[in-house]
Amino acid sequence: MKTIEVSKILTEIKKADKTSLKYAADLLNSGEIVAIPTETVYGLAANIYDDEAVKKIFLAKGRPSDNPLIVHISDFSMVNDLAFEFEPKAKLLAEAFWPGPLTIVIKKTKAVSNLVSGGLDTVGIRIPESKITRDIIRLANVPVCAPSANLSGTPSPTSAQHVFDDLNGRIPLIIDGGNCDVGIESTVVSVLNNCVTLLRPGGITPEQLSNVVGEIIIDKNVISKPDENLIPLSPGVKYKHYSPKAKIVLIKSSLEKFNQFILTKENPFALVFDNEKVECDSLSYGDINDSLSQARLLFQRLREVDKLYIKTVYVRCPNTDGIGLGIYNRLIRAANYEEISLWNQL
Ligand code: TXA
Ligand code: MG
Repeated sequence: MKTIEVSKILTEIKKADKTSLKYAADLLNSGEIVAIPTETVYGLAANIYDDEAVKKIFLAKGRPSDNPLIVHISDFSMVNDLAFEFEPKAKLLAEAFWPGPLTIVIKKTKAVSNLVSGGLDTVGIRIPESKITRDIIRLANVPVCAPSANLSGTPSPTSAQHVFDDLNGRIPLIIDGGNCDVGIESTVVSVLNNCVTLLRPGGITPEQLSNVVGEIIIDKNVISKPDENLIPLSPGVKYKHYSPKAKIVLIKSSLEKFNQFILTKENPFALVFDNEKVECDSLSYGDINDSLSQARLLFQRLREVDKLYIKTVYVRCPNTDGIGLGIYNRLIRAANYEEISLWNQL
C-alpha cells in the first residue's frame, strides 16, 4: 500500500477571541487549513475556492477523495454562488433550521469544484449555529468546506483536545471554542426534485423535518449496511466511521439481561447510561431518557475507551427516537452494523 508522508508542522491551539478568529480567517485566505469549532463537532476548514487548500484537508485527514465535503456559509446570500437551484422544500428547511445542525444537499453550480463535491453534481451546504464558526467565515469572506476534524475513521472531535490528539503536526491552528453543544454531526438531507431524503441523522430530528416539509424518505443506509454492489446516495456511508480501535458490541436489552450477558464474557467493559449498576468496569454516556446528553458524550467516551486500551466494549443500545436515531446510527456503524437483541431471551 502506498503511504503518504505528511510533513510535521507546529500545531497551535488558540482560545476563540477576536484576535484568534481574525488569525484563523487570515490563514484560510492564505491557503491554509484550520480546525474550527461548530455546534455539532469540530471541523477542518479550507476556502472552497482554493483547490490546493482543499487538497490539504484530504491529506491531513487521510480522507478518500470521493467523500464530498460540506460547505459552511455564514449568510444565506452565499447560497447563490453555490446552488444551481434552491428548491421550495430546501428553502423551507433552510428557513426553519438555519443557522443550525442541518446540511442540505442540492444541485451545485460550477463554482463548487469536483474536489469539494467528490465528483458529484450536488453540494451539501449548512449555516452553523455557532457564532464562532460564522464569525470566522464572515472574516474570511468565503464559504469554507469542513469535514469533521478527526483522522478519517476515528470518532469525530467534540473538543479542541480531540482535534489535537488526531491532527497534531498536520495542521497549523486549532481554534478552541470549548465542548460542542450538540456532540454529533449535522443531519444531512438531500432535496432533489422536491423530494427530501434523510442521508445522515443528526442534530435535527426526522420529526422536526417532517413538521416542515411533510413526508420524508429515510435512506436505508441510515440503519443498515450499505450494499457493496450499489452506489450509496451519501458516499460517506461506505467508509468505516466513528470507530474506536476497540470492538463495539451493541446490545438491545433490559439492564438485567445486559448484566447477565456480560457476566458470561471475559474481562468485559461496558458503556451504559447514567446511574446504571453494571457488573464490570464501565463508563456512562448520558441519561437513558435524554438523547441530547448522550450525543454530547458519545464520541468522547469512544475516544476514552481507546485511551484505556479496552479490546471489546459492550454498549447499551440507545432509544432511537429524535436525536436518538443519530446516536444509534453512529453506534451501529461503529459496530459494523451488528447488534445483539436479548429481548426475546428468557
Ligand atoms: O456537523 C457536521 O456536518 C460537521 C461539521 C464540521 O459541520 N461536518 C461533517 O463533515 O460531519 P463530514 O465530512 O465528516 O461528513 C459529511 C457527510 C459525509 O458522510 C458525506 O458523504 C456527506 O456528508 N455529504 C457531503 N456532501 C454530500 C453530497 N453532495 N451528497 C451526499 N452526501 C454528502
Ligand atoms: Mg466525518
